Amino acid sequence: MKPAQIPTPLKTKPLLTVLGGETLTPPPIWLMRQAGRYLPEYRATRAKAPDFLSVCFNPDLASEITLQPIKRFGFDAAILFSDILVIPHALGRHVEFREGEGPALAPLESPRGLAALSEEESMVPLAPVFETIRRVKAALPADTTLIGFAGAPWTVATYMVEGGSSRDFSRVKSWALGDPDGFQVLIDRLVDATSAYLIRQIDAGAEVLQLFDSWAGVLPAPAFQRWCVAPVREIVLRLKKLRPLVPIIGFPRGAGLGYQGFASATGVDCLGLDSTVPLHWAAQALQPQATLQGNLDPIQLLAGGGNLKTEILRIVGALGRGPFIFNLGHGILPKTPIAHVEDLVTTVRSRS
Ligand code: CP3
Repeated sequence: MKPAQIPTPLKTKPLLTVLGGETLTPPPIWLMRQAGRYLPEYRATRAKAPDFLSVCFNPDLASEITLQPIKRFGFDAAILFSDILVIPHALGRHVEFREGEGPALAPLESPRGLAALSEEESMVPLAPVFETIRRVKAALPADTTLIGFAGAPWTVATYMVEGGSSRDFSRVKSWALGDPDGFQVLIDRLVDATSAYLIRQIDAGAEVLQLFDSWAGVLPAPAFQRWCVAPVREIVLRLKKLRPLVPIIGFPRGAGLGYQGFASATGVDCLGLDSTVPLHWAAQALQPQATLQGNLDPIQLLAGGGNLKTEILRIVGALGRGPFIFNLGHGILPKTPIAHVEDLVTTVRSRS
């Protein structure tokens, strides 16, 4: 039965409850990249647009896609359908997604390649994203939380400088490690644009934000502090000053021991764990400081088999006694069978 449409206190949303530091059994669940190619309804909607960025900037299609995994699986959160690379686009860089090849950007070689745009000017192309958020917010079930997001500056910079995905990150690392003052100009620009973008997402209806730092794991420890921790701290500071009630999830994927101290150094409320993070260490060293989210290996979900249930129960067993959100350790893979996602949701929710 559909829940009555009465105004509910925010705390009745399981995701917001655990982000506030409480423990729930069973834990809330959503999946990174939950709206995407493993869903036949996504592929059908996606086919209505000429290219991927046009989907991100079409509120009809993007709001429909955001809601698809909620309708099918009843996840506790919807994540805005967009991409981290809308920020380089908004900053005037050429961004395209080639079919089957991933993103292609005009490689940025120095801060001189950045257009002189005011904050207001750079937000203009992003207006359709805010409209998507407003529409999704109005259509969501009362207990489902809407997550907005952006890429963290380091990860977005990797795509801008490399011109797309990379194997060894040699261009962006050469710049960051060889000319830190020049690279700081790019990172500062991304901090400004990302903070402005996320404030607008909140004002359009996003209730939680996630910062994806997918390539946090490729830097030496001091560079991780400067290019991952410091920019995320600056964004969190600005957001908490202006919109203090909105919880923020940090996802420094691959940070290893860098997860220790990340929450206190940046001010994020929740740590998204990648699949390599040892659970007992996380429960002892990280969970007292922050809500944890993660960390089933997406390949385990794709592979299925008897081990899938064992792994799910291992994760819930280790982290479910404190504030915890069940998720993957990285995005769901396009070949993942839908039956495996159904089994996952059933297993997590039946363990109470
Ligand atoms: O469901 C959701 O999670 C919301 C939408 C979302 C997408 N991308 C849609 C997408 C989110 C949160 C992202 C984040 C994102 N985008 C990240 C961080 C998370 C991660 O996976 O590390 C990164 C690095 C990107 C950049 C990006 N976008 C790449 C490298 C690619 C190509 C590779 C791939 O996965 O296809 C994309 C394209 C993209 N973004 C697709 C989707 C559904 C597939 C494009 C298509 O349908 O044609």
